[in-house]
Amino acid sequence: MTFKWLLLTGVLLATASITFSQARALRSPVFTKDGELVLPSGFRQWVFIGGPLTPNGLNNGKAPFPEFHDVYIQQANLRFYQAHGSFPEGTVIVKELALTQAGTYTDGSINSASGRGYFPGALHGLDVMVKDSNRFSDTHDWGFFTFGHHAPPYEGAARVMEAGQCASCHIAGVAKTDMVWVQFYPLLHTKLQ
Ligand code: HEC
Repeated sequence: MTFKWLLLTGVLLATASITFSQARALRSPVFTKDGELVLPSGFRQWVFIGGPLTPNGLNNGKAPFPEFHDVYIQQANLRFYQAHGSFPEGTVIVKELALTQAGTYTDGSINSASGRGYFPGALHGLDVMVKDSNRFSDTHDWGFFTFGHHAPPYEGAARVMEAGQCASCHIAGVAKTDMVWVQFYPLLHTKLQ
């Protein structure tokens, strides 16, 4: 009898801790009372869905974001997208920038054992999109934030960017795919292993 009770208590505790960790994994975006977005925490442990690269060497030496663009999303929001073709309220998408390692060729590329190309170096900035139809209905339900275009540490909180600085380009390009450039992230359309 005692053993049964112990077993039952153990199962209950395990269930509670799984539920708790899932709740933590799905933490929603946090806003200050002034409406600034608090720097998302733990995003490097989310699902990494891709890292587009627009190096200076291919953009006349002046790409707006010459770094790798490493994009992260929480697993539950990725699964929701796979099921419904849009992102749920509260979705946070993080784009962390990583410099390319200093080039030896004029286009900024270097040689490595795997061939000539571009390779990530130091972290160098953080941009974030948040889906919240109450706060950001003017910009297709998404708010855009930047926590700095420099090495970490990043700013602790950020005010929503003017539409003309961020949202307008996403509206012009990808309003039909829920404001995200989904064509660049094959994992959005790939079964999770
Ligand atoms: C001139 C167009 C343009 C502007 C302006 C722009 N973006 Fe984007 N953004 C893109 C493109 C294209 C991608 C995907 C390809 C890439 O990263 O190179 C992207 C990707 C992103 C992503 C990853 C999710 C996705 O949709 O692919 C985030 C987050 C993001 N941008 C935030 C911002 C923020 C914050 C700003 C303003 C500071 C901003 N963007 C301004 C064109 C733009």
